[in-house]
Amino acid sequence: MNVLVIGSGGREHALCWKLSRSAGVDRLHCIPGNGGIADLAECRDISVGDTAGLLEFTKKMKIDLVVVGPENPLAGGIVDAFEAKGIPIFGPVARGAAIEASKIFSKELMRDSSIPTAHFQIFDEHEKALRYISGKEPPFVIKADGLCAGKGAYVIKDIAEAESVLKELMVNGIYGDAGRKVVIEEFLPGIEASYLAFADGKTILPMPASQDHKPLLDEDLGPNTGGMGAYTPIPFLNDDLEREIRDGIMLKTIAAMREMGIPYKGVLYGGLMLSGGKPYVIEFNARFGDPETQPIIFKMKSDLLPVLIACVEGRLDKLEDITWKEGVSVCVVIASKGYPENPEKGKVIRGLDLLSGREDVAVFHAGTKRVGSEYHTSGGRVLGVTALGATYEEAISKAYDAVGVIDFEGMYYRRDIGKKALLVK
Ligand code: AMP
Ligand code: GLY
Repeated sequence: MNVLVIGSGGREHALCWKLSRSAGVDRLHCIPGNGGIADLAECRDISVGDTAGLLEFTKKMKIDLVVVGPENPLAGGIVDAFEAKGIPIFGPVARGAAIEASKIFSKELMRDSSIPTAHFQIFDEHEKALRYISGKEPPFVIKADGLCAGKGAYVIKDIAEAESVLKELMVNGIYGDAGRKVVIEEFLPGIEASYLAFADGKTILPMPASQDHKPLLDEDLGPNTGGMGAYTPIPFLNDDLEREIRDGIMLKTIAAMREMGIPYKGVLYGGLMLSGGKPYVIEFNARFGDPETQPIIFKMKSDLLPVLIACVEGRLDKLEDITWKEGVSVCVVIASKGYPENPEKGKVIRGLDLLSGREDVAVFHAGTKRVGSEYHTSGGRVLGVTALGATYEEAISKAYDAVGVIDFEGMYYRRDIGKKALLVK
C-alpha cells in the first residue's frame, strides 16, 4: 500500500515510524513532514490547507490511504473532500471534527447526552458574559468556542483577569471569529488524563490512557504549551473508572454523533479530569494527541496499518484486540529557547546519532529540518525523546538519560515528566 501521512509534528513522526515497520506499507509519504520524518518517508512541501493540491498529489502518487494528523485540515473538511473522491482517509468528517473545533457543539452534545462535563453557559454577547461573571466566584474557566492552537482556555483566578480575557476574545477579537463566542464553565479540580480511542463510526478500540504535561515549567507552572511530555499507561484508573470512561463517555459520544448522522471515524481523544473519583470531559479532540501519541505508539505491539484501515472501513469489531508492549512509555519534549511565544530556530542538533538503532529509545522529531548531513531546529517543540521501561522509574530515567545525550543551543525541557505517576505508588 501507498500511505500518506499529513502533518509535521512528533505525532506524525511516531505514526510514520510505526507505519514504516508495517509489512503492508510499500511506500510512505508525508506532507510536509520534518527532518526526522524525511529519513522514513518521502516528504513534499504542500500546505496542509491546500486540499486541491493534496488531492492532486494523492491521485498522482496512487495513494491508498491518507492519515490526517492535525485538527485544522479535519475541521476544514479534508476528510469530506477525499471521501467524495473515493479516497480512503483516516479521520472524522468536518461535522465530527466539530467536537474539537467548536466547544459549544461539544458542550451541547455532552449536555444533551448526559456525558459528564463541567456545568457551563454559552455567551455570544460581551455585555451578557460580563454580567454573568460579575456574580461569579473564581475559579472558573473561560473558553473560546473555536480553534485557537491550544490557547483558547483560561483558568480564571480573579474577576479582573476574567474581564480582560472576555475583552480580548469578544471585543478585540484576538482569535478572530474563534473567540467571539465563549463557554464559561465550572472549574473541576483533579487529575488530568488523556483517553484516546480508535473509532470506526460505531464502535471504539481504546489506547492505553496517558497523561500530558501542558504547562511549560516544572510543577505545572508557567504558560500552557502544546504539551511538554507524556507517559502511558497511567496509575490513576481502575477497571470501574475505565469502564465508565469507555462506555459512559467515549462510546456514548460516538453514539450521539451517529444519531446526528455523523459517522465518527478516526481517533476520539477525551481530555478528562478525574475529579472526586469520577471522570469528566474537559475537552474532546478529533485526532491523535501530541505528545501523547509518541509514547502510545512506541508501546504499540500490533501493526498500526490494519487498525487504521478497519476504522476507515467501519469494521473495528472484526479486528483482533490491539496488543501493547509491557511496561511504561515516557516521552520528554525538548523545546527551543523562547517556546511557546517566540522560539529560536536554526540551531544545530547534536547527539542524535548516539541514540539511533535503540529498541527501547526513540527520538521523534517535531520542529527540525535536515540541512545537509545535519539536523537543525525549526520550531518550538523540537524533539520527543521517548523510552520504554519495565517500571515508571526505569522508563523515566531512560528517557532523561537519552535527553542528556542531545544538545542544541538554548534547549529546554521539563525535569518532572512522569513524576505524578511516581507519587501514586
Ligand atoms: P483545554 O484547552 O480545554 O484542554 O484546557 C486547557 C487546560 O485548562 C486543561 O488542560 C486544564 O488543565 C485546564 N482546564 C480546562 N477546563 C477546565 C475545567 N473545567 N476545570 C479545571 N481545569 C480546566
Ligand atoms: N497534548 C494535547 C493535544 O494534543 O491537544
